[in-house]
Amino acid sequence: MAGSIPERYWGAIKMILAIESTCDETGAAVVKKKQSGNGVEVIANVTASSAEMHNKYGGIVPEVAAREQLRVIGSVIEEAMNKAGLKYENLEAIAVAYGPGLMGSLLVGVETAKTLAYVHQKKLLAVNHMQAHLLANWIDDEPKLPGVGLVVSGGHTDLVWLENMSEWFELGGTRDDAAGECFDKCARALGLPYPGGVSIERVAENAKSIGVKLPRPLKGGSGYDMSFSGLKAALLREVKSRGELDESDRAGLAKEVNEAVVESLVEKTEKAIKGKHPKSVLLAGGVAANKLLRKKIKKICDELGVEMYVPEIKYCTDNAAMIGAAAVLRPKEADVFELNPDPGLDIFG
Ligand code: KG4
Ligand code: ZN
Repeated sequence: MAGSIPERYWGAIKMILAIESTCDETGAAVVKKKQSGNGVEVIANVTASSAEMHNKYGGIVPEVAAREQLRVIGSVIEEAMNKAGLKYENLEAIAVAYGPGLMGSLLVGVETAKTLAYVHQKKLLAVNHMQAHLLANWIDDEPKLPGVGLVVSGGHTDLVWLENMSEWFELGGTRDDAAGECFDKCARALGLPYPGGVSIERVAENAKSIGVKLPRPLKGGSGYDMSFSGLKAALLREVKSRGELDESDRAGLAKEVNEAVVESLVEKTEKAIKGKHPKSVLLAGGVAANKLLRKKIKKICDELGVEMYVPEIKYCTDNAAMIGAAAVLRPKEADVFELNPDPGLDIFG
């Protein structure tokens, strides 16, 4: 039945081992469907990040990420299984994110999951990483649908209408850079470390405005589409024209970038709430960790009488618990010999 967890599929409540390796994180989690209702319970969740290794390059180096994932994936899975106190015979299925993401990184997770499923004779469940970001909202909670979902990550920015658990429709998205990508590129231009959203937010927190106004492309335009590349280009020009940046310039520009990105996301989300009348708004993805974004959307939701949901920070950035949640909520069985990574998968795939 659309809108609820397929009980017939799961039968008695079973444990799922979930694996995430789409970008620079390597994650393993053990989750199960809650005894009653539609929520998901996390039994163990382990995440290892190679973010620091990419710092000197100002962004992710795919080859470095995949090599590190190959090195740590075995111990990350072992740690999750130990924390859950489980043996493979206790598992119902093994779930893995098969896209979108970096080909080398995806291969590490997908091949590991296929091997484990084959060796231990378990079901293999293929999970769409972007859907999983949204479904992280069902961890220890049960959002009411229909809802508007704003998925903002390093590679994607999607505004989605969730009619029920299975019928999702596109409202809009970015026409160029993703919101997280904009944060990362602007941080690099400002000489701030990766991940850019985290460092821009930190520096912006106590910053004073320096009177620079960056563009909010497509603001006030019709539809729900967004654009961030003009903002990035304007920041690059501003930085170049200033030559050496002192601390207050850097902080002031970081504050303006933070506000500009958040304003664009908030404007389109508000428009979707007013135009579509959802019961809830679901934030998701690494950028949903942003405090200004959460605060502004919460204020609008309170004013309009709509519930706002956002996962805990550790379930906003890439993690395997959300992959497990998606496997419980929208199970899609795959063949252990056939499943391949799909780097270009979109949220509706
Ligand atoms: O969802 P995620 O962990 O990985 C992808 O699937 O891409 O998102 C990573 C993105 C990065 O671009 C990072 O700069 C951004 O999320 N991010 C933030 C914050 N924390 C992470 N952006 C704004 N504010 C934050 N607090
Ligand atoms: Zn992600």
